[in-house]
Amino acid sequence: MTTSMKLPFGTITITDTAKRLITASLESGRVSCGTLVRDFEDRFASLLGVNEAVAVSSGTDADILALAVLHDLGASRSDEVIVPALSFVATGNAVVHAGFKPVFVDIERDTLNIDPTAIEAAITEKTRAIMPVHLMGKPAEMDTINAIAKRHGLLVVEDAAEAHGALYKGRPAGTLADLAAFSTYVAHIITTGEGGVITTNSEQFGEILRSLRSHGRNCTCKHCIMNTNELTYCAKRFRGKGGEDVRFTFDRIGYSCKMNELEAAIGIGALEIYDSILKKRHDNLIHVLERFDRFSPWLSTFREEPQEQIGPHAIPIIINEGAPFSRTQLTQHLEKNGIETRTLFASMPTQCPGFEYLGYKSGQFPVAEYVGKNGIHVGVHQDLGIEEMDYLLCCINSFCNDNY
Ligand SMILES: Cc1ncc(COP(=O)(O)O)c(C=O)c1O
Repeated sequence: MTTSMKLPFGTITITDTAKRLITASLESGRVSCGTLVRDFEDRFASLLGVNEAVAVSSGTDADILALAVLHDLGASRSDEVIVPALSFVATGNAVVHAGFKPVFVDIERDTLNIDPTAIEAAITEKTRAIMPVHLMGKPAEMDTINAIAKRHGLLVVEDAAEAHGALYKGRPAGTLADLAAFSTYVAHIITTGEGGVITTNSEQFGEILRSLRSHGRNCTCKHCIMNTNELTYCAKRFRGKGGEDVRFTFDRIGYSCKMNELEAAIGIGALEIYDSILKKRHDNLIHVLERFDRFSPWLSTFREEPQEQIGPHAIPIIINEGAPFSRTQLTQHLEKNGIETRTLFASMPTQCPGFEYLGYKSGQFPVAEYVGKNGIHVGVHQDLGIEEMDYLLCCINSFCNDNY
């Protein structure tokens, strides 16, 4: 076993195209949301085959804006959105920042995703949406979730932050519900450094999202010409009542979360090499998943089912009941050997104090709480290869043997 490998969790590939576009943008003096952002959005939309992609400054903002569309559909600020109990905390935070109350539902141990059989019991007359998360890129059970939503007249928003490249019954994550929210933060498959993208087939939602990301202004154009050249005259601006400037009238409460040109340039470069990044990461993931049973019964992970392709975000590892070691011991062993780890998040309602105000009690989400205490995840990114994956397996193996 090589003793000196480093397996960082995430990476960023900044291509020559990205560098060229960044330089051009800097030289033009135009770095705020403009033509590069539009180009990135168009490419992102055509990759998924959707009508609309709206780029924002983070995956969290993507979640928030996708949910905030509900206000245009008549939702009230005390209404409820159903989310899985276990996710990166941004999922729960986003519900609150969009102006709603998160209602949590436990997850399934083998998929790590929201338990579809528990959703209906959480629906009340205030429920407006369900936001499943494709955790670690594994698609949530969307047919069942969409059917429940249809029965109850609810919107479905995919939290696809970690699900670039995921396929569910042949269809890509990001096209499986009314709206979807991606993160393009560094650790993700398509990265802009910091950033996020909302996808939808609804042109109406696209318009609302573009307004929301820019303070709720009343402009409705898909492609704004204002940010291309300081002196551009926009003939559509003064079409408000009595010739009022619609760019400075605000019919809805908005946010300020546009993507900038430098981020979009990195994203355009990333999209050019997307296929090779995806393949490399997927090969890495499958290499480990196929060899993981040897750590049973102490450790488990998830599996790729025939009807899906997991978006290769990371490898989840759960320390099972009865294992003769703790999460801390495994984590320290991996970190000492150069393998960066993350926890597998937490049960937001019962393990993240920020959500205490909702009044949930410890024990209400047994699966999420177990995973929150006993889960970790490690990277599979494109700068790692089969050699590094074998090194990871070797490190886990030696750790298990030492503890046997
Ligand atoms: C499931 C999930 N939702 C939302 C987010 C938020 O994305 P960001 O960090 O870009 O704000 C993340 C971040 O990785 C995530 O994992």
